[in-house]
Amino acid sequence: MTSPNLLQTLDDLRQKGLRELEGATSVEGLEAWRVAYLGRRGELTAILRNLKDVPTEERREVGARANLVKGALEEALSQAEERLKAGRMAGLASEERIDVTRPGRPVAMGRYHPLTRMVREICDAFTAMGFQVVEGPEIEWDKYNFEMLNIPKGHPARDMWNTLWVDYKDQAGAQSMLLRTHTSPMQARVMEGSGGAPVRVVVPGKVYRYEATDATHEWHFHQVEGLAVDEGITFANMKGTLYEFARRIFGAERKVRFRCDYFPFVEPGVDMSIDCFACQGRDPKCRICRGSGWLEIMGAGMVHPRVLEMAGYDPGRYTGFAFGMGPERIAMLKHGIEDIRLFYGNDLRYLRQF
Ligand code: FA5
Repeated sequence: MTSPNLLQTLDDLRQKGLRELEGATSVEGLEAWRVAYLGRRGELTAILRNLKDVPTEERREVGARANLVKGALEEALSQAEERLKAGRMAGLASEERIDVTRPGRPVAMGRYHPLTRMVREICDAFTAMGFQVVEGPEIEWDKYNFEMLNIPKGHPARDMWNTLWVDYKDQAGAQSMLLRTHTSPMQARVMEGSGGAPVRVVVPGKVYRYEATDATHEWHFHQVEGLAVDEGITFANMKGTLYEFARRIFGAERKVRFRCDYFPFVEPGVDMSIDCFACQGRDPKCRICRGSGWLEIMGAGMVHPRVLEMAGYDPGRYTGFAFGMGPERIAMLKHGIEDIRLFYGNDLRYLRQF
C-alpha cells in the first residue's frame, strides 16, 4: 500500500470511529468500541504495528498521521466516557434509568438441608430428656465398630454390616480401620472415656455400608445413636424414653410397638415401630406401611453385660439401654418422601420444599 492510500485509510478510520462512537451510549458499548479501534487487535494498532514495512521515505508521514488519529480517537473516547458518567449521575443515561416503580429483586434465602433439620429435631427430643449430644470419628477402628460391641473377628453377625475397609492398620498390624457402619462404636468410646460414671448421650453422625442403593437404602446415610448407663436402669426406662421420643417427633396419638430383634451388643434386643399415621393399616396399597400398619424406625435393647464389662463397667452394678435409628427413614415417614436418594440428589426444586 502506498502512503497516500494509507493516509486516506487513516482519515477514513478516524471518521468512521468518531461516527460510531456517537452511537455508543453504554459502558459496554464504549468498551466494544475501544476494543475495535484502539485494542491490541484493533485496526489502528494493526497499521501502527506494520509501520516498519512502509518505505522509509513515507514512514515518517504515515507514522505522524497514525499518531494523530490515535490521539483524536483516545480524546473522543475519554470525552464520551465523561459524558456517560455525568449522564448516569444525573440519572439520565437512557439504558440505566431507574424505574422506582418496578418490584424489587427477591433475595434468595438459604435454608438447612431437610436431613440436618431432622437430625437436630431428633437430638432436641433427647436433650430435652437430659441426654448430651456427642460426636465421633467416621473412620473407625475394627475394635470399636465390632470387637467392643461383642462382635469378635469371624463372628457371623459381622455380615449384618457390609463394611467398607480402609487400607490402614495399626503399628502391630492387628487392628484395621474402616468407615464406621453404624454409630454404635461411640457406645464403647463414650463408656471407655467416662471412667465408669453414668452416661446419657445421643450421637448423630454419618455411617457407610457397602450396599446397593434403592428407594430405602443408601450406601452412606445418617444414624442417631443413644446410650444411657446407670445403676438400676430397666427395660421400662428404655420404653418410656422411646415412647416420649416418638410422641415428640410423630405426635401424641402415635402407638409404639416393640418386637424381638437381634443385635450382638444388646440383650434383649428389639426393633421399635410406630403405627402408620397414613392408613392405620387399613390400606393394603399404603405407600408408607404397605398395608402392615407399622413402620420400623430403630433398633434398641439393654446393653449387653459383656459390652459393659469390656468398657470398664461392673455389669453386676450397672445396666443400660441403647438405640440406633436412621434419620433419613424417619424424615421419609414424616414428610411422605418415597425415595431416600432424593436427599442426596442436590435438586433445589426438591430441597426448597422444606
Ligand atoms: C444398627 O445399625 C444398630 N447399630 C442399631 C442399634 C443401636 C441397635 C443400638 C441396638 C442398639 P441397623 O442396621 O438396623 O442397626 O440400622 C439402624 C437404622 O439405620 C435402621 O433402622 C434404618 O433406619 C437405618 N438404616 C439401616 N440401613 C440403612 C440404609 N442402607 N440406608 C438408610 N438407612 C438405613
